[in-house]
Amino acid sequence: AKEPVRVLVTGAAGQIGYALVPMIARGVMLGADQPVILHMLDIPPAAEALNGVKMELVDAAFPLLKGVVATTDAVEACTGVNVAVMVGGFPRKEGMERKDVMSKNVSIYKAQASALEKHAAANCKVLVVANPANTNALILKEFAPSIPDKNISCLTRLDHNRALGQISERLNVQVSDVKNVIIWGNHSSSQYPDVNHATVKTPAGEKPVRELVANDEWLNGEFITTVQQRGAAIIKARKLSSALSAASSACDHIRDWVLGTPEGTWVSMGVYSDGSYNVPAGLIYSFPVTCKNGEWCIVQGLPIDEFSRKKMDATAEELSEEKALAYSCLS
Ligand code: NAI
Repeated sequence: AKEPVRVLVTGAAGQIGYALVPMIARGVMLGADQPVILHMLDIPPAAEALNGVKMELVDAAFPLLKGVVATTDAVEACTGVNVAVMVGGFPRKEGMERKDVMSKNVSIYKAQASALEKHAAANCKVLVVANPANTNALILKEFAPSIPDKNISCLTRLDHNRALGQISERLNVQVSDVKNVIIWGNHSSSQYPDVNHATVKTPAGEKPVRELVANDEWLNGEFITTVQQRGAAIIKARKLSSALSAASSACDHIRDWVLGTPEGTWVSMGVYSDGSYNVPAGLIYSFPVTCKNGEWCIVQGLPIDEFSRKKMDATAEELSEEKALAYSCLS
């Protein structure tokens, strides 16, 4: 039998946490033959709710779940973890300045970076979900210098999946037949959902999305804004932000990273830029990646047209500004 993998979920008493932990315990994240031990962290005001989640995990009698640690102590939460999904953060409240929210999250991610660096298992893979996801991941990277850059990522897979979903709805095809969309940049409304290399499996073979949709006005307009603003549309409808889709996409992100992407398929991940596609090095930026043997690799050599270039640069610009704001909170 396989050794259990220890998976940390921070903010585990929150909405995404509540959707995510049962998925992990069912094997959705790491596979149906992989036992897991869940480490759940939240803050003291949520301790009682967190304990309630732990009770429900016991009650669900998940065969793969070999243990649960529920704690408000970051060191206990981080000890020995192989995968860390960082969902906890400080939400923007009405009337708050951007800088104030950034400052709260910078201090949370600085502290949690140290706890992970000192106590996580070697080669721990980190996924930051909490917003501002890219910049929180960057702060985590900066304050956990012994964790390799390659092990720190942020979630843009939800945006990627949203783009697949929109194409599938538009063409009335199975979402599993659509692939190779790209989310470039920030997990914010400046992100660029790119379909220039996306394809659909049809009875007549693989066809480009641009050929099948045959409506550049929609692809260059409404499609992009729908994906960019989907988070806001969910909040408007549910009065709460996306949770089940965020949790499911977080599982997709880790599963593909650990177990590999299918041949010929790429996915989007926010990763530390090495300057590929002339994206400034040193930002956490969403790129198309393939994964193999537990490592991601940016897909190289895709042709970028002028329309795409402008949008890729605009979202990079926003990330540079966020980075500067985050650094100004440190001093
Ligand atoms: P929520 O407010 O329901 O849950 C957040 C939880 O984090 C709460 O239980 C809170 O007590 C906890 N928390 C706060 N500070 C903490 C700390 N220092 N350590 C540990 N836990 C802490 O929020 P929800 O809906 O679950 O969303 C979580 C985050 O994910 C938000 O920042 C949200 O903006 C972000 N998000 C990101 C998405 C993405 O695609 N990257 C998609 C959807 C949400």
